[in-house]
Amino acid sequence: MPSGRYQMYNDNSFKLGLFGANCSSGRAANILPERWLADWESCATMAKMADEAGFDFILPIGRWKGYGGATNFQGTTFETLTWATGLLALTRSITVFGTVHAPLFNPMVAAKQMVTADHVGNGRFALNIVVGWNEPEFKMSGIQQRDHADRYDYAEEWIAAMKQMWSTEGSSDFQSDYLHLQGLVCEPKPVGRTSPLIINAGQSDAGRAFAMRCCNGFFTNFREAGVERATAFVEAFKSEARSNGREIDVYTQGHVVCRPTRKEAEDYFHHLTNEGADYGALEEALRLKNITRENTLDFEARLKAMPPNNVGYAIVGSPDDIAEKFARIHGAGISGIAFSLVNYVKELPLLVQEVLPRLEKMGMRTAAT
Ligand SMILES: Cc1cc2nc3c(=O)[nH]c(=O)nc-3n(C[C@H](O)[C@H](O)[C@H](O)COP(=O)(O)O)c2cc1C
Repeated sequence: MPSGRYQMYNDNSFKLGLFGANCSSGRAANILPERWLADWESCATMAKMADEAGFDFILPIGRWKGYGGATNFQGTTFETLTWATGLLALTRSITVFGTVHAPLFNPMVAAKQMVTADHVGNGRFALNIVVGWNEPEFKMSGIQQRDHADRYDYAEEWIAAMKQMWSTEGSSDFQSDYLHLQGLVCEPKPVGRTSPLIINAGQSDAGRAFAMRCCNGFFTNFREAGVERATAFVEAFKSEARSNGREIDVYTQGHVVCRPTRKEAEDYFHHLTNEGADYGALEEALRLKNITRENTLDFEARLKAMPPNNVGYAIVGSPDDIAEKFARIHGAGISGIAFSLVNYVKELPLLVQEVLPRLEKMGMRTAAT
C-alpha cells in the first residue's frame, strides 16, 4: 500500500468515485436540457459536495476531441492534471485522479505536473494511465499512434521513468528502448516520498498484463448478468497479482440513475437512452470503431443499443435498488465503482441523503467525519 495515501486505503470496503465530470455531457451522450456542461463552477461545486459527503475519488476522462452530434458530445473538456490540481486545492480528503495519455505527455514534464498536484492535495493525487485509442486525437497531437502491444511497452517504460524520478535522490539517467533521459532530477518528491496510486483500465491481454506489472488498481467491466464471471475474474486477477508479490484492487465503472422510486428512475433512464440520446455523437463513436452504415447490416440496431451500452453498467432504481446493486458488485470482490450521473450537482444530494446511509448500514462504508 502506498502509505500516506489514506483516502483510497480508508475503512470503506466499497469505494465510491465520480467519473467523467471534466467532459461535457459526462459519459452519457444526451441532448437533455439538464445535461452536464462541465464548466468550472459546476465541477468545483461537485467536488466540494462529494468531498464533504465522504466520496473516495474523482476520476476524469482524458479526452481531446468531441464526438460531434447535436451537442458535440465530450467536445468541451478540461485537461485532467490541471483540473485535478484545481479540485485538490478546493477539497480536503477526496482523492483526485489525473487521466494521462502516456504517449502524449513528456515524462519529465508529467512527473513534475503530478508532483505539483500531489503537493496541492497533500498526497491525494492519483494517476489513471491510458495509452490512447482514438486516432483523431493522435492526429491532432502530431504524435504517431503505436501498434497496440507497443503502446503498453511504451507505457511500462514511461511509468518506470516516473517512479525513478519520484524516488531517486540527485541526478540519474533513464535508458530504455523508447526513452533516453539524461541527468534526470525531480524535486520535490511526491508527498511522503511515496508514489501516487496508479490505475489502468486496459481491457486487452496486453492492458491487463501491464496493470498486473505496473499498477495498484485495475478497472474491469461488470454486468448484472455476469456476477459469477466477474467474481471468478477478480479472484483470478488478484491471486495472480499476489503470486507476483503485488496487491492490486479491482474497480468497475458505470452510470447511476437514482430517483425516489424505481419507476421514476426507470422512466428517466428510458428517456435518457431513447429520445434524449445524442445519436449523431454515438454514430461517430461507432465510426471510430469502423462500424458504419455502409459496412454493417444491422447498423440501426447497433446504434439503438449504443446509449445504454456506452455508459457501462447502468445502475438504475430507487435508493434501495442502488444500494443493493452496489452490494452485488462488492460481493464479486470489486473494491469500488467510478460512476457518472447526467447532472452531478443535481443528482448527488439524493445519493448522499439516501444511498450512503444504506451502504453504511450494510457495512460497506463508514459515515463521513
Ligand atoms: C474506467 C475507464 C476509464 C478510461 N478512461 C479513458 C480515458 O480517459 N481516455 C482514454 O483514451 N481511454 C480511457 N479508457 C480506455 C482504456 O484506457 C483502454 O484503452 C480501453 O479499455 C481498451 O483497452 P486496451 O487498451 O487494453 O485495448 C478508459 C476505460 C475505462 C474502463
